[in-house]
Amino acid sequence: MQKTMVITGGSSGIGKGIAQYFHKAGWQILVTGRSKSSTAAVAAALPGIHTLEYDTALNDQEKPLTDFIRREWGGRLDVLINNAGHVVITPLKGITREAMESMYRTHMAEPSMLTAGCIDFLAATKGQVINISSSVGIKAYAEMSAYGSAKAGMNMLTKIWAMELAPLGIRVNAVAPGPTETTVLEKAGLSTDMIQMIHESEKAAIPLQRRGQVKDIVETVALLVNSASTWVTGVLLPVDGGVSIT
Ligand SMILES: NC(=O)c1ccc[n+]([C@@H]2O[C@H](COP(=O)([O-])OP(=O)(O)OC[C@H]3O[C@@H](n4cnc5c(N)ncnc54)[C@H](OP(=O)(O)O)[C@@H]3O)[C@@H](O)[C@H]2O)c1
Repeated sequence: MQKTMVITGGSSGIGKGIAQYFHKAGWQILVTGRSKSSTAAVAAALPGIHTLEYDTALNDQEKPLTDFIRREWGGRLDVLINNAGHVVITPLKGITREAMESMYRTHMAEPSMLTAGCIDFLAATKGQVINISSSVGIKAYAEMSAYGSAKAGMNMLTKIWAMELAPLGIRVNAVAPGPTETTVLEKAGLSTDMIQMIHESEKAAIPLQRRGQVKDIVETVALLVNSASTWVTGVLLPVDGGVSIT
């Protein structure tokens, strides 16, 4: 039987890279994007992939996903990747309630709702959850209080879920990328000059002296999915060129 994987935010960047890797390996994959146009692009690129819309700004978004798993995959799920995310960069002075709430919904509340809805499916396969966190949830950066604290919260959720779900044979780990080449900063509405400036300063701060590529993150996720890591749970794995140890 084909293995099954759900990737939230699989319509671009890191999530799309993970989808491409496991699609090529013959898995059944469901990816989400916020709109029909973003899911259509990934569906066209990867024939046979399943797509659904999922937007953490809205309530009850986990329901169509769990209905899909029950209906199409007979209630079996091997891997859930909580990857959907976006970033807010703002000084504390002037921060909005909307910014705080959107970060906490996207990186903590909604992954919690979806993961809770998938427990029985994952128990059926002794499957696993992988949370895509961030080096910004480990190391403190000015103007990243909303995003950084949300990702730090996701790191703690990873450990608590790992404890709670271990008796069911479900493993839970997090991968924490450092600055990686995707469209995440463009989607945050930053100007090209600002993005260029951030890229330069990030590169200078990374011990391995380069920004990450999507494949750096994908191949680490593949390591965790690989059967060689079946005794690994509750781990937060930085994949960041060393930036989180500086
Ligand atoms: N790139 C980095 O430097 C970096 C570093 C550390 C951690 N991360 C984390 O890696 C994950 C993937 O980011 P990425 O860099 O690949 O960014 P990306 O290319 O912008 O992709 C983000 C994905 O998440 C979806 N998404 C965004 N906001 C969402 C929301 N409110 N509800 C549901 N889906 C939403 C997007 O859907 P649409 O296509 O519809 O917009 C897209 O599929 C995120 O959790 C991010 O925090 C990224």
